[in-house]
Amino acid sequence: MHVARALLLFLAASTVVANPVSQAAVLSVSVVQANSSTRWFEDSSEVQIFDVVVKNTGNAWLTTKDNLMVHVDSPSLITTRPASVKRLRPNDSAIVEVGVVNKPGVADGSSGPATVVAEWESQGKSSLEITATYGIPTYDPTKSSVDQHEAPDWWRKGKFGIFVHWGLYSIPAWGNVGANESYAEWYWSHQMNPNDPTQTYEWGLEHYGPLFIYDDYIANFTADNFNPKDWVDLFADAGARYFVQVTKHHDGFALFNMSNSISERNSVAQNPHRDFLREVFEAAKQYQPQLHRGTYYSLPEWFNPLYTPYTLSGEFGVGLVEVADYVADFQLPSMDILANDYDTDIMWCDIGGANMAPQFAAPFINAAREQNRQVTINNRCGGIDGDFQTPEYASSTTLITTPWEATRGMDPDSFGFNAATPDSAYMTASDVVTSLIDVVAKNGNLLLDVGPRGDGTIASVMSTHLREAGKWFKAHSESIFDTKYWPSGPGTGVFRYTTTEDAFYIHVTSQPDGNLVIPDLVPYLADDCVTVVGGSKSGAVVPSRQLANGSLVLDVSTDIGKADQYAWTFKISY
Ligand SMILES: *[C@@H]1O[C@H](CO)[C@@H](O)[C@H](O)[C@H]1NC(C)=O
Ligand SMILES: *[C@@H]1O[C@H](CO)[C@@H](O)[C@H](O)[C@H]1NC(C)=O
Ligand SMILES: *[C@@H]1O[C@H](CO)[C@@H](O)[C@H](O)[C@H]1NC(C)=O
Ligand SMILES: *[C@@H]1O[C@H](CO)[C@@H](O)[C@H](O)[C@H]1NC(C)=O
Ligand SMILES: *[C@@H]1O[C@H](CO)[C@@H](O)[C@H](O)[C@H]1NC(C)=O
Ligand SMILES: *[C@@H]1O[C@H](CO)[C@@H](O)[C@H](O)[C@H]1NC(C)=O
Repeated sequence: MHVARALLLFLAASTVVANPVSQAAVLSVSVVQANSSTRWFEDSSEVQIFDVVVKNTGNAWLTTKDNLMVHVDSPSLITTRPASVKRLRPNDSAIVEVGVVNKPGVADGSSGPATVVAEWESQGKSSLEITATYGIPTYDPTKSSVDQHEAPDWWRKGKFGIFVHWGLYSIPAWGNVGANESYAEWYWSHQMNPNDPTQTYEWGLEHYGPLFIYDDYIANFTADNFNPKDWVDLFADAGARYFVQVTKHHDGFALFNMSNSISERNSVAQNPHRDFLREVFEAAKQYQPQLHRGTYYSLPEWFNPLYTPYTLSGEFGVGLVEVADYVADFQLPSMDILANDYDTDIMWCDIGGANMAPQFAAPFINAAREQNRQVTINNRCGGIDGDFQTPEYASSTTLITTPWEATRGMDPDSFGFNAATPDSAYMTASDVVTSLIDVVAKNGNLLLDVGPRGDGTIASVMSTHLREAGKWFKAHSESIFDTKYWPSGPGTGVFRYTTTEDAFYIHVTSQPDGNLVIPDLVPYLADDCVTVVGGSKSGAVVPSRQLANGSLVLDVSTDIGKADQYAWTFKISY
């Protein structure tokens, strides 16, 4: 052995301070944050979740041997599901969920003291006193009440959804290419503006002539090759846990059955007289019932003359019913239809503007609770905060500890199908995999959009890439879905981390070969076994060791490097 290397190894052995067997090490763990939530465990509507953050504030490691458990003490609550923390490096934190039920006679939504306690062997203890809400409240139609609502665990754990933009705009399917490419679902708005940089005005004149108006596409919206089973099977093959269907975009042409007394501008009252939303939802219920079903709804409309603040001069439009008030007599009732007649799990509003969001949200959430369903609402309904943020064609460079969902199309610049986009510009399977890993490590979800063609088919560039990504997600499922972020950070450079109660996952997005130095101080102990997740060498043990500075080094053989693609996942089991 090279002398310098031997010296280095000697130093490594002697200078690792954060060693559990070190004599001076003292285990000290603190409950640093605790909150009663308005969520319940998906398998029992009786059990309320408390969110607790536990931090290792000492210089010894917490390991499984310490048997650390977290529970809630309160005169009004019984802890039915204590949580355990199995591994904490000094300075690391873990986020756990503790389950409680109200003691007899304690009203849901009442509040009072609770003490959140972490206990470990032997006689170690830390506690934090908080004012808690006991049980799941019933919501009032006010902003302050509805803002207490939180995105449910199925959504937080689901990580990956498919967004579907399909409507009249899918017939011209035009959004230009290159620098001036834009959202194809904005076709009508672009086409009305002779100075629009997408040059849709010129393109429309050339393809359809000067007399053609947007609503003429209704006659052509025949959906000849629409097969909702193909759609939901694709979403499932992609590995998605939920999907969100556009039910009415800014053009105001809806894909669901409204009462004719509020609007006839939809695919049921007009051509082709079909309830596409119901067809998609029924196919999902029948063929992919595990998928949660969501609905996008644009609150304003570009050219609806009843929507005064947002009306541009336009040629609206087939199917207008002259109700007295756009919001009270049309917008709110049509959102109620999505909640009540279609049982949507996600109300994905867009744009905000004039709204009655609290009046929508409270009965929506309360009625779902009656059916033991946890529903969720995004942050674009106006008037309420919503349960999660929705950055669009943008992700986050940092960890965001509140719920969020990045959304974008597989097209580089469009949600609706843009026939002008070359296949080479679409997200590849590798892009989809690495995007989801990045977002999940930062505590986000990814709502990835496909734009079907006007006839209802999905271009193979999207379906093929999604299915390829889906194979990767299925093979690496344990490291993506149902995971939590690592509070110490999402990962440096090409590294991203995810955690569960029992394991720590290291994802690296460039192919490793030989020594792979993990730049961040991950919770690795000297006798840990590190294994491969996914690929043709799934389960293989990877030799591992620690450098003097505490960094983990994995000795990744060329075979293991070649055994996977897109991203490589390694697991530290506790
Ligand atoms: C959660 O609890 C901490 C104290 O433990 C408090 O500072 C914070 O505001 C609470 N967060 C929410 C959303 O209530
Ligand atoms: C914990 O973090 C603090 C501040 O970042 C640092 O000074 C300290 O050395 C760390 N302790 C250990 C045991 O890693
Ligand atoms: C993009 O649009 C601008 C403004 O309309 C125009 O000047 C420019 O030539 C367009 N670029 C391309 C590549 O078409
Ligand atoms: C609409 O359908 C008509 C008749 O089938 C056809 O001639 C026309 O090209 C179609 N227009 C569009 C925009 O697809
Ligand atoms: C639309 O709803 C009306 C009233 O509930 C019902 O009679 C009609 O059959 C529905 N149409 C479709 C296509 O589902
Ligand atoms: C430890 O040293 C290695 C090799 O110099 C380096 O790549 C790694 O980033 C270092 N780790 C930390 C936590 O500084």
